Amino acid sequence: MNREVPEFHPVIRRLWRIDQSRVRGHFLRLDDDSRHLRFGGPVNDAGINKYVDGFFAPGVVAYGAFVDGELRAVAELRRDIIRRQAPAEMAFSVEAECQNHGIGDALFRHMVAVARNRGIKKLLLHCLSNNIRMRHLALKHEADLEFGFGEVEGTLSAPWPSFVSVFQEMVAENRALLDTVLHWPARVAKP
Ligand SMILES: CC(C)(COP(=O)(O)OP(=O)(O)OC[C@H]1O[C@@H](n2cnc3c(N)ncnc32)[C@H](O)[C@@H]1OP(=O)(O)O)[C@@H](O)C(=O)NCCC(=O)NCCS
Repeated sequence: MNREVPEFHPVIRRLWRIDQSRVRGHFLRLDDDSRHLRFGGPVNDAGINKYVDGFFAPGVVAYGAFVDGELRAVAELRRDIIRRQAPAEMAFSVEAECQNHGIGDALFRHMVAVARNRGIKKLLLHCLSNNIRMRHLALKHEADLEFGFGEVEGTLSAPWPSFVSVFQEMVAENRALLDTVLHWPARVAKP
């Protein structure tokens, strides 16, 4: 992690359909490398727009990390709403200028708690095999990694909800609310 510049202190909160334009802005700001790593191949702006149009599908729980009120990172948990026992898939994206400052790690930890609180027992994570940071984070959070052609699949077992996992999700929501109140009205006026 880059220790030479101050750490970011992002506010993590759940994203809702009302946040769609913020989500679009975040994905459109991803540079080519980050897009490639996130989607497993090159994606142009039209591809991003299509992805964001369908982003808030049933079964999706998404959280965002806000730095100075701007959405800089997104974590998604996608569940199969028919086969409820099927593993849920996680994906992460952090904008280039915010990468390697602990945001991905914070979101990863948060999403494991979010999954636990929803009774999700298995989490899947797909990334390219050259994605050193994602592989490092997956191993750090005790995922089993399986290597395929140019791709890695990580599987995590999420234990049952605990006081700590419920508390963790609650604290993030309350901190986000407090942040909005403290920065009223500038923060709420942003589209
Ligand atoms: C992958 C990604 C989500 C990680 O988020 P991030 O905020 O950059 O990551 P963090 O700073 O929280 O953590 C990076 C970790 O990798 C480690 N790391 C960085 N470079 C490394 C290297 N070359 N070798 C080994 N470890 C490395 C850091 O030390 C840190 O580990 P630590 O927390 O134990 O110190 C982010 O970089 C990203 O969005 N990349 C583009 C999209 C993507 O790859 N998405 C994943 C596919 S789903």
